[in-house]
Amino acid sequence: MQTFIKNLSTKVGEEVTLKGWLNNKRSSGKIAFLEIRDGSGFVQAVAVKDALAPEVWDVVEKLTQESSLEVVGTVSEHPKQKGVYELQIVKLLNCQIAIDYPISNKEHGPEFLMDNRHLWLRSKHQWAILRIRHLVKAGLQEYFNGQGYVELDTPMFTPTSCEGTTDLFEVNYFDRKAYLTQNGQLYLEAMCMAFGRVYDLCPNFRAEKSKTRKHLTEFWSLNPEIAFIEHEESLKIQEASLKHVVKYVMEHGKEELALLERDLSELQAVVDKPFTHYEYGDAIAELKKRGSDIEYGHDLGADDEELLTNDSDVPVIVKNWPKNIKPFYMKGHPTDSKLVLNADVLASRGFGEIIGGSQREDDYQTMLDNIKAAGLPVETFEWYLDLRRYGSVPHCGFGIGIERITRWISGIHHIRETIPFPRMLNRLEP
Ligand code: 4AD
Ligand code: MG
Repeated sequence: MQTFIKNLSTKVGEEVTLKGWLNNKRSSGKIAFLEIRDGSGFVQAVAVKDALAPEVWDVVEKLTQESSLEVVGTVSEHPKQKGVYELQIVKLLNCQIAIDYPISNKEHGPEFLMDNRHLWLRSKHQWAILRIRHLVKAGLQEYFNGQGYVELDTPMFTPTSCEGTTDLFEVNYFDRKAYLTQNGQLYLEAMCMAFGRVYDLCPNFRAEKSKTRKHLTEFWSLNPEIAFIEHEESLKIQEASLKHVVKYVMEHGKEELALLERDLSELQAVVDKPFTHYEYGDAIAELKKRGSDIEYGHDLGADDEELLTNDSDVPVIVKNWPKNIKPFYMKGHPTDSKLVLNADVLASRGFGEIIGGSQREDDYQTMLDNIKAAGLPVETFEWYLDLRRYGSVPHCGFGIGIERITRWISGIHHIRETIPFPRMLNRLEP
């Protein structure tokens, strides 16, 4: 029966069978240390020539990096490292010998690694990061499911834009044009009027020509949409869900975080301390004080996001932005008609925006005026206006970027490593 590396701690003294791949081999000719991975983890297996049948030692000698194998061995705790387990090899079968595996343990450039993404996925760091991605999705779902939200899906083909018309991917949809969804928010608003509290978790597409460490053309987001709450309540939910997901990853991803050498005290601070809030205007003033040349009325650039949060050990919420730089659906500020009730959550330590959200305009006439002012075709928004015609209520929602959160919690440099097969301005393969 196959045992998984992650379960070896419960099998000390027993003989087990592992099925996996050879990650690395060191051999003196008499004793060989095989680092084996099986998807669930990594383990060192020790082969001693004199203790093995000659045909088993032959296999040890033949094995190359990334050869697939089946190994029978006895589990022991590492003599010097507590909590680390080893395998003393008894029998070894190779499934397939890999010849000239292109990714060695020496340094490779990022373009080479990206061209070999289908293989790079097997390396230790990528294993850790993508398992953290899995935990990020699971931790967020645990939070929202636990609060009674219903997960429902939004369409990928859409007839209209959600986040502005400049970065849409157009596709042929039989005899007409359609667009890949930028975000399912408008549909989530309809669903929250039917189910109260909903969220989706799906890809979003943005034809942005940005070549940064934070932008993908295809990324995933989790978008809660909540009926009968106002803006400040939504910010509380955003903070609670982020604290929950950080805690969840710390609990379930210890090995992965250790592999990435993530500073756990930084993550613990996110869980323990309240987030910082800035009114948009105050954030601009603070940025100027810190040396930025940003002017009131502009979006924060990547440098500004970093400047504002580099020294912060908790996420920073920048709220209530000028209406004229924000999408049509945001609700106006009750005491300043030039502002809207929205917020961006910027990650701690300079990792940049991780959440964008807002209270939605719920008044029929104001929404109609907004759609017209944005130059959008009213006919295609009639169904959306229905949500304001029939039983309109205050409601809020926000979008959590899965790759942005994974990058932040993993503490890694570039977003391309946070999704198995990244799609970017210059990258559609493999
Ligand atoms: O801030 P955004 O554009 O907000 C919306 O789309 C809202 N309609 C969401 C809502 O209210 N339900 O996107 C939400 C989040 C961002 O904060 C960021 O984390 C991520 O999605 N994101 C990207 N991640 C990777 N690459 C990109 N190009 C991204 N654009 C946004
Ligand atoms: Mg945004």
